Amino acid sequence: MGVAAHYRDLLASHYSWMLGGDIEQVATQDRQLLEKLGLGAPSAASVAVDLGCGPGPQTLALADMGFGTVVGVDTSQELLDELAHLARSRPAVRTRHGDLLDALPEMAARGSVDVVVCMRDTLLHLSDLDAVDLLLTRVASSLATGGKLLLTYRDLTQELAGTDRFLPVRSDDERIMLCALDYDTPETVTVNDLVYTRTAEGWELHKSSYPKLRIAPDTLVQRIEAAGLTVTHHAPESNGMWSTVAAS
Ligand SMILES: C[S@@+](CC[C@H](N)C(=O)[O-])C[C@H]1O[C@@H](n2cnc3c(N)ncnc32)[C@H](O)[C@@H]1O
Repeated sequence: MGVAAHYRDLLASHYSWMLGGDIEQVATQDRQLLEKLGLGAPSAASVAVDLGCGPGPQTLALADMGFGTVVGVDTSQELLDELAHLARSRPAVRTRHGDLLDALPEMAARGSVDVVVCMRDTLLHLSDLDAVDLLLTRVASSLATGGKLLLTYRDLTQELAGTDRFLPVRSDDERIMLCALDYDTPETVTVNDLVYTRTAEGWELHKSSYPKLRIAPDTLVQRIEAAGLTVTHHAPESNGMWSTVAAS
């Protein structure tokens, strides 16, 4: 199944719950990360783009940090609607339904964007390494001089084996979510999401799969620099995600 269909048919309905249920709280945590990584101090004229924004924790954080315009791009209308609701008293926020690969050339003049973020594994939702290279080239063209790109993502190159491939995600009295990983090729892993929801008749299973890219963090750095950006920060965070910042 493709990524957009996976979110439409399963994950969008559970995504905010999966992150703990309170996107404002996630936005507060993400703001701390954005500021720690030096993406703060915008002016009212500053423009930020959040590629694969989902319900918008980073979009909300960037608006609260003072960016004058923050565009959240996503293929899931359900998640964009959640973001629009959360952002109703944040006039800086715009939502854009569409593919993150096309968004920058379609909406931003060359050199007009101050910050691009693509966070929490969204980069790994792209179809292949050619798509990653295309995105990086388009980001490099859209950034203003001194503009910054922030990527956060997992290193999925190390294979988990046996029962370690089954990962608990979240559970409460009404819902249980697990995922199981199948390592298909050196470049991709199939993520099988399994969600049980409690109904009047008992527990009901919902399941769907989608591919994620496996990119070694150091390979990503080489690709970012090949696109003409300079990597200024590259390290794993305490939650196991890598953060890579590049400047124009
Ligand atoms: C793991 S979620 C991350 C959402 C958000 N950035 C966060 O930190 O919670 C990935 C998001 O990217 C979106 N997405 C995946 N591929 C996309 C594409 N090609 N174009 C636009 N959005 C995409 C999904 O719909 C989903 O909302």
